[in-house]
Amino acid sequence: MIILGIETSCDETAASVVNNGTEILSSIVSSQIEIHSRYGGVVPELASRKHMEAIVPVVREAIKTSGIGPDRLDSIAVTRGPGLIGCLLVGFSFAKAYAFGLGIPWTGVNHLEGHIHSVFLEPDPPPFPFISLLASGGHTGLYLVTSHTSMELLGQTRDDAAGEAFDKVAKMLGLGYPGGSIIGKFAEKGDPGKIDFPRTYLDKSGFDFSFSGLKTSVSRFVQSHSAGYKEMIPDIAAGFQESVVDVLSCKLLLAAKEKRCEHIAMVGGVAANRRLREKVMNDAGRAGIKIHIPSPDLCGDNAAMIAAAGYYHLIDGGLQDWSLDVFSRAL
Ligand code: KG4
Ligand code: ZN
Repeated sequence: MIILGIETSCDETAASVVNNGTEILSSIVSSQIEIHSRYGGVVPELASRKHMEAIVPVVREAIKTSGIGPDRLDSIAVTRGPGLIGCLLVGFSFAKAYAFGLGIPWTGVNHLEGHIHSVFLEPDPPPFPFISLLASGGHTGLYLVTSHTSMELLGQTRDDAAGEAFDKVAKMLGLGYPGGSIIGKFAEKGDPGKIDFPRTYLDKSGFDFSFSGLKTSVSRFVQSHSAGYKEMIPDIAAGFQESVVDVLSCKLLLAAKEKRCEHIAMVGGVAANRRLREKVMNDAGRAGIKIHIPSPDLCGDNAAMIAAAGYYHLIDGGLQDWSLDVFSRAL
């Protein structure tokens, strides 16, 4: 089944052609980072308008580079939520109209289920059941994944998402938006043990997260050092990053042990972080657990993961309700 995936939930307009939910024939991601970085974060109305501009060229490019004509598409999978409503509506309305025009089935896909499916686009995907840590700009949660269409949320952040904490700390340090990759680069030049930022484990045996206390600690540190903090940016970045990495890795392995899973996965934009990948791989290796992390390109938002998740709904008939709407918050 050849599926066209479409993703417009935040600041990336993406389209991809995927065969049987696993083989990527093309994947185009048009990022709006340059526009939003001027404002230090995503401006929803601007983002929606940019999706309007980009959607047709991006879909056209995805179909062209796949080497497959529109007549060979079997179905369409499109992000339904969670995300920014104006942004979702652009992709969702486009997908419905295109499916209507081509006379093919379509389905709406949960963006989080999409991220979880990014590991199925890589060789040697995990067998069920497995634990998946989803850490992105909008969400941070641990899931027990028992099939392609059923996943149980074990715990999630009570305040900021991990990626959001990276973005806010980067903004505090005057490093620009989005902050994740910039903090990662500065952290490589710093000493993670120089400044001791707190690790918020909450209930040590539970799976919820909290990153707002850590963010406040960084803010206090910066304020108490006035202009002097500038020379300490690499150490602040490394100390902050190490705190996030320790908590994420600890809870991921704890969930694997408690649920007796031999396979774990890590997905979402933050899973592109080099130090996090290294730590989780080491910790998992020591515990005899197999870890699955998609290549950095598939960690951030993309449409191939939407097609991969949509495939399993489409082989079951999909959602064919033409009156279906988008949703902003996790269902
Ligand atoms: O999955 P994603 O592309 O979009 C959402 O669904 O939110 O994740 C974006 C988030 C941003 O907060 C960004 O700062 C973070 O992922 N991120 C990183 C890295 N690359 C992206 N965080 C830490 N280290 C990175 N290398
Ligand atoms: Zn995402």
